[in-house]
Amino acid sequence: MSRIFSGVQPTGDLHLGNYLGAIRNWVRLQDDYECLFCVVDMHAITVWQEPDNLLANTREVTAALLASGIDPKKNIVFNQSRVSGHAQLAWIFNCVARMGWLNRMTQFKEKAGKQKENASIGLFAYPCLMAADILLYQATHVPVGEDQKQHLELTRDIAHKFNSDFKKVIFPIVKPLIFGTGTRVMSLRDGTKKMSKSDPSDLSRINMADDASIITKKFRKAKSDTDVLPDSQDGFKGRPEAANLMNIYAALSDTDIEEVCQQYGAEQFSAFKKELADLAVAKLSPIQDEMRRLMADTEYVDSVLSQGADRAQALAEPVLEEVCATIGFLRSRA
Ligand code: AMP
Ligand code: TRP
Repeated sequence: MSRIFSGVQPTGDLHLGNYLGAIRNWVRLQDDYECLFCVVDMHAITVWQEPDNLLANTREVTAALLASGIDPKKNIVFNQSRVSGHAQLAWIFNCVARMGWLNRMTQFKEKAGKQKENASIGLFAYPCLMAADILLYQATHVPVGEDQKQHLELTRDIAHKFNSDFKKVIFPIVKPLIFGTGTRVMSLRDGTKKMSKSDPSDLSRINMADDASIITKKFRKAKSDTDVLPDSQDGFKGRPEAANLMNIYAALSDTDIEEVCQQYGAEQFSAFKKELADLAVAKLSPIQDEMRRLMADTEYVDSVLSQGADRAQALAEPVLEEVCATIGFLRSRA
């Protein structure tokens, strides 16, 4: 069976983009693949995290995964820092990847911005850790949102270079799984920018923890334009906000975007936004209720992560063993 690995960072609030672009797809894949879902706390610390927040967010993200329908018995759900192989293989990949490859990563440029000299080395090397996450388990498929495509290309380059440097095929060339209408959910305040945890405006995103009245308010205040809604996708040109809101509707209702255009074309934004808010509340509230229940049961959430880590460790060990032997590291005990 093919193996899936994917990760989410425990940084700040999870939002609708994380849910529609990633988590919801993970739920759908769990029946067809052997899956590892990882809360990547080591990626989180590439930028400063308050320790108490990191801990709380690790549990919250885990609760969100479980509440969304990920079955921790069928899949391996764990936090990254518990399995030391991630750090070990990441170091090896730091020595395989080239500066030039990492210099091309757009996410680093976006995150470091003008403060490049002041960014952590971890932020620069982030994609090598991501490659290690995936390849430590020889995963073959990686479901992500569109923003991670470039990192997966780098993962393929690293696997290829390692295999050819050492003349041994250890790592698979991974396939990205980017599907569904929610692969790129945009900000509610600017339809040209990705919905993101790091946007300073909370109005720009629907957080998984927002209640019905906040969700309704955020959609009501979402940026729009003065025209009525288009009746086909051709009408999205120059209208990123209309495209985004209709796309979110399509993703939440599991319909085709063209169908949403036919249904709501020529309507006013105000009426559509109300329908969209009601739909979002209906879809998210059962998940939110379950999330709240799980967050009150820290013991259970912690036990899921710890058992997941044991299972992940068992899969990682033979791969790391083979990698170390291949490189020429003396490892086994005398
Ligand atoms: P992160 O929050 O950066 O750890 O992202 C976790 C997952 O959510 C990744 O698979 C991302 O590709 C996905 N994701 C993040 N933001 C968005 C967005 N605005 N639209 C769609 N997917 C997203
Ligand atoms: N970099 C991913 C993000 O920010 C999270 C991530 C870390 C990941 N390791 C991964 C995703 C491995 C897929 C596979 O969204």
